[in-house]
Amino acid sequence: MKRLLGALLMTALTMLTPAARAAGPTLVIQADRPGPVIHRNVYGQFAEHLGTGIYEGLWVGPDSKVPNVRGWRQDVVGALRDLKVPLVRWPGGCFADEYHWREGIGPRSRRPVKVNTSWGGVPENNAVGTHEFFDLVEQIGAEAYVNGNLGTGSAQEMAEWLEYMTAEGNSSLAQLRRRNGRDKPFRVHYFAVGNESWGCGGNMRPEFYADQFRQVATFLKTPAHNRPVIIASGGTGLQTAWTEVLSQGVPGVDAISHHAYTLPTGQWDKKGAAVGFPESEWIATLGQVQQIDEMIRRNVAVLDRNDPSRKIGFYFDEWGSWYDPEPGSNPGFLVQRNTLRDALLAALHFHVFHAHAERVKMSNVAQMVNVLQAMILTTKDRLVLTPTYHAFKLYTPFQDATSLPATIENNPVYQVGTVQMPGLSATAARGKDGKLYVGLVNANANQPAELTVRVGTGSPQAARGQLLTAGAMDAQNELGKPPQVVPQAFEARAAEGRLTLKLPARSVLVVALEG
Ligand code: AHR
Repeated sequence: MKRLLGALLMTALTMLTPAARAAGPTLVIQADRPGPVIHRNVYGQFAEHLGTGIYEGLWVGPDSKVPNVRGWRQDVVGALRDLKVPLVRWPGGCFADEYHWREGIGPRSRRPVKVNTSWGGVPENNAVGTHEFFDLVEQIGAEAYVNGNLGTGSAQEMAEWLEYMTAEGNSSLAQLRRRNGRDKPFRVHYFAVGNESWGCGGNMRPEFYADQFRQVATFLKTPAHNRPVIIASGGTGLQTAWTEVLSQGVPGVDAISHHAYTLPTGQWDKKGAAVGFPESEWIATLGQVQQIDEMIRRNVAVLDRNDPSRKIGFYFDEWGSWYDPEPGSNPGFLVQRNTLRDALLAALHFHVFHAHAERVKMSNVAQMVNVLQAMILTTKDRLVLTPTYHAFKLYTPFQDATSLPATIENNPVYQVGTVQMPGLSATAARGKDGKLYVGLVNANANQPAELTVRVGTGSPQAARGQLLTAGAMDAQNELGKPPQVVPQAFEARAAEGRLTLKLPARSVLVVALEG
């Protein structure tokens, strides 16, 4: 009798659906309910004239001993090309509102030397200007996002810059561009009117900025087939006032830019260390991505009310970690180490941006090289790929993929002291190659997790991809030392009709599901 009951119990257990048998967290993907496409420019980058972000990090000049192509470092450009960087924003940031494009054209030896008053007060010799920037994006294979100067510039200066870049005929500006070595027009994909106009871009009120934008946008003329998306400078953090004003019928607004940085302590005067931080700052950093989600929700709610036909994009064109500067560095250069924490922070941002793919069709991590949450850190002639670089690389299949609803049932809570956040985070999409991709983060610094995967009511047969994790929260890749944070191959197979993914503590996993 006992044996019979045991056998019946076993039969009953094997008959249970995979979901019912899964006591732990379960990822449920609805592959039959495709959502909006995740625009590849959500994986955009930002390169500002700031510290060694451009000079030294990317640009060494054509006469340098460091191998370069027309002044751009071959090693760095090669790594960015491998990363499939889709878009680069330039020349700032705060720097954009003090940048005068005419100072960056013509023979480099004759360009004026200015003071970079935004960042460290160092000399700016204008060696990198419009032609050099377009050479860079063309070498990387990326689109160009040019940020115009509203702060110290004018409608005329921005209009003429656009004409210089895009004019096809024989206007004086088109001829000047040709004399400077570029016959065919540059392709300008995006153009912004000012940056952070609420702060370093002029301390404006949204209404005043909106009036300025109206005037400037009237004169931003280009050939129709080379018309950039025109971006209005928006707000920051949980603010919605800028989105509110700019989405109420301001002519010419194609998209509104929004910025938010993640500071472990939330305090600008003591942000928190990039390495050697306590677990309380790990969770405080990663947990803030829930605020990014809230910022987008609130602003998208405003847009949905004011722009129901969804013409206006909401672009997160500056985001990332901002820590106390590296000891001994120029504080105006925003140099910081990059650790496993940054890789998880990046992945969590991607999940949020994917969830809002309908409006968020661009984001730009700050910044590309040597500044803040960088992809690459350089010395004079060497480079290191940061954990953030590897996170971006893992997620490349999500560029232009079709988002799919993905929810985690029984998501464990991760808690440190009084701070809580969901332990696991997931995103899913159908890639351009037809495969079903899943991105996962286990934010818990100490506990591994096992996650059952369901697609609809069925179970995939296998998962294959790459895992990013390391032995410590602040593991990093340093020059001259073996890298601590590098992707590892990952594979899992279904057993008894159930696919379980084992996520180590503090990890990012991207897999393609099979079967
Ligand atoms: O990315 C550094 C700076 O942060 C940018 O120049 C500015 O827009 C923001 O405040």
